[in-house]
Amino acid sequence: MTSKIVLVTGASSGIGRATAEYLYEKGHFVYGLSRSKPMGDFSFVHLACDLTDSEQIVQIKAIIEKECGKIDVLVNCAGVGIGGAIEETERKDIDWLFSVNVQSVIQLTQEMIPLLRKGTNPKIINIGSIAGTLVIPFQAFYSMSKASLSAFSEALRLELKPFKIDVTTILPGDTKTGFTLHRKVTDSKANSLYKERMERSLKKMEQDEQHGKSPLTVAKKIGQLIHRRIMPVNVAIGFEYKLFLFLKRILPNRFVSWVLYQMYGK
Ligand SMILES: NC(=O)c1ccc[n+]([C@@H]2O[C@H](COP(=O)([O-])OP(=O)(O)OC[C@H]3O[C@@H](n4cnc5c(N)ncnc54)[C@H](OP(=O)(O)O)[C@@H]3O)[C@@H](O)[C@H]2O)c1
Repeated sequence: MTSKIVLVTGASSGIGRATAEYLYEKGHFVYGLSRSKPMGDFSFVHLACDLTDSEQIVQIKAIIEKECGKIDVLVNCAGVGIGGAIEETERKDIDWLFSVNVQSVIQLTQEMIPLLRKGTNPKIINIGSIAGTLVIPFQAFYSMSKASLSAFSEALRLELKPFKIDVTTILPGDTKTGFTLHRKVTDSKANSLYKERMERSLKKMEQDEQHGKSPLTVAKKIGQLIHRRIMPVNVAIGFEYKLFLFLKRILPNRFVSWVLYQMYGK
């Protein structure tokens, strides 16, 4: 198989790190981007960058352009989460979440498109979430950011079609990574009307994530997708999540909403 030049964001931890390592092992040239250096040994080329800083994104493009002149695959994986009630979440935290999960993906993608145009069978793989389709209470802003990313990917796919740059969104479900620990949880006020429900909901989510799939499962799927001529519009990881998405399509919305309330809202 031909070796590709790949940029993976979120490469210091979890899915991004597993993807960067896996693609390197498969013989690709991999840039892995994150603010912090990955802990322990790693083999890919690390690029330090805070994706919320526009200037740093421009510099990343300049580095890759100078060193390689093109890129074949962009994996937008970096992401953060917030837990908390909509009524109680502060504007600065919401801005931060959208800045990482949406705005930075838009800017990095804009910067990389000219380099992807020079790539071979070029691909953009965005890491969304099942939570963007099956929206979760007390994680509203996270769900919104991932729904927004799916919409972005779908429009991008259509706009880039004439340039033969293919775009997909991967929709992982619960995956055992640093995400649980890194999630910012809104401090409930002493007189909060949500405290108990929110804590129950987040505890369930945290337990599900920590019993979730290995990030390598997502990495391996990405390893397959980059060799496809045309990728699906979106890709759920695992039979159970494919089934959930199918049921969401065919069942009445009120029923799906009731189930989600029983699981995460009560
Ligand atoms: N884990 C799950 O259950 C799950 C499920 C569905 C979807 N996802 C999605 O999968 C993606 C990867 O998450 P993960 O589970 O692997 O979480 P993770 O272990 O917490 O990794 C998140 C990565 O994002 C990077 N990052 C965060 N803020 C950044 C910034 N401002 N600039 C540059 N890099 C930044 C982090 O690196 P630094 O902190 O070093 O910058 C880290 O490498 C996310 O988009 C997440 O929404 C996860």
